[in-house]
Order: sequence, then C-alpha cells, then structure tokens
Amino acid sequence: MKIVVIGGTGLIGSKTVAILRQGGHDVVAASPKSGINSITGEGLKEVMAGAQVAIDLANSPSFEDKAVLEFFETSGRNLLAAEAATRVRHHVALSIAGTDRSDNGYFRAKVAQEKLIKTSGIPYTIIRATQFMEFLGGIADQARMETSSGFRPSCSSPSRRTTLLLSSPRWRSPRRETASSKSPARNEYRSTKSSPAI
Ligand SMILES: NC(=O)c1ccc[n+]([C@@H]2O[C@H](COP(=O)([O-])OP(=O)(O)OC[C@H]3O[C@@H](n4cnc5c(N)ncnc54)[C@H](OP(=O)(O)O)[C@@H]3O)[C@@H](O)[C@H]2O)c1
Repeated sequence: MKIVVIGGTGLIGSKTVAILRQGGHDVVAASPKSGINSITGEGLKEVMAGAQVAIDLANSPSFEDKAVLEFFETSGRNLLAAEAATRVRHHVALSIAGTDRSDNGYFRAKVAQEKLIKTSGIPYTIIRATQFMEFLGGIADQARMETSSGFRPSCSSPSRRTTLLLSSPRWRSPRRETASSKSPARNEYRSTKSSPAI
C-alpha cells in the first residue's frame, strides 16, 4: 500500500516511516527537505497520487500562538484538498490528549486541525497521544538531581509530577520547543471514522 507521511523526517514521522517500511509498505517520507510543502502546496498532489493513506505528522516551525494556528489551519486545508483531489482513502493525524480542555495556543491549533479533518469528508483516524514517554528521561533526571542534593524527590507525588510536566522547559522536545511542556499528559484515546477496506 502506498502511504504518504507528511513530516516524515520529524521526531515521530521518521519512526513511523521506518515501522511502515518494515511492514512492507511503499512509504514516502514527505517534507520541505524533499520538496513537499503543506503550507505552499508544493508537490502535494504529485506525492498523493496513487496513495491510499496520508499520515499528517507535520509540525509548525514556530509555536507562537498566531503562527502555530496559521500553520495547522493552512497545512490541514492544503493536505485535505490534495487528498480529496487524488482520492486518498484515509487521513491519519497525531494530536494530543486534552487539547480541548486547555486554553493553550498550541492546543487551540491542534483543535483547529482536528476540526478540519472531521469536516473534510475523508475517512480519518485522529490519535491523541499523552506524550508521557517523551518526558520520562527528564523526570528521572530531575528526581536524581533533587535526591542527591538532599531534597525530597519531587516526582514522588503524582500531582507534583504533573506540575513538573507543565512547568519545566527541561521536558521539551530535543528537536524544538513543543507544546508538551504545557500538556496535561494523561489519557489517550483514538477517534476513528473508519473507511471500507483500505
Ligand atoms: N512529539 C510528540 O510527542 C507528539 C505528541 C502528540 C502529537 N504530536 C504531533 O505530531 C506531529 C509531529 O510532531 P513531531 O514532534 O514529530 O514534530 P517535529 O519533530 O518537529 O517534525 C516536524 C516535521 O514537520 C515537517 N514540516 C515542517 N513544515 C512543513 C511543511 N510546511 N510541509 C510539510 N512538512 C513540514 C518537518 O520537515 P523538515 O524536516 O523538512 O523540516 C518535520 O518532518 C505534530 O503535529 C505534533 O502536534 C507530537
């Protein structure tokens, strides 16, 4: 099956591409570096031609409130239009648990992205990840640091652990600053509108 991964060079995208290729799929890792740009529209229809599934793992270069909203809205519109024109059968996107319960600029942008997908008419799967594993190393480091300096380990309380996730820049993605530092990071669920036999 031909699968296009938009943002296929990113943190999540590169792992997704590798796993899908191991599964024997014909996978295109699409990103501006390979001449495919979901903001300008460059290369989108060409890359989607013949694809059955498109996975959107693109991320905004800026997390400033207005810029990130514009990124996910423009990117989402362009991707879904190209998919409709080339008859892609299923759209997959990665979102974050709790986006609709926080007044955070990045989360508002993810909600806007989800809305575009839900109203596109294209069968879709939206995965809402908790991001917890991404922060695990940082939590362990913080606990070790505070223990060796005589403080009570701050991660011993679940509520304190959440506070750390929300407040410390230490937990941000190595690739770039992410909304993860503000994420409630709790539940995971999938919102799926199934398509027949892809
Ligand atoms: N990381 C997490 O834990 C996590 C959790 C939940 C949800 N998500 C979501 O998953 C997605 C990917 O996150 P990530 O952390 O993997 O991001 P990332 O590491 O920052 O990767 C971003 C990817 O987007 C590409 N990109 C940037 N601008 C683009 C454009 N105009 N057109 C096409 N591709 C473009 C980049 O391409 P270049 O390499 O060419 O710059 C790169 O491949 C995001 O939507 C994020 O909200 C991530």
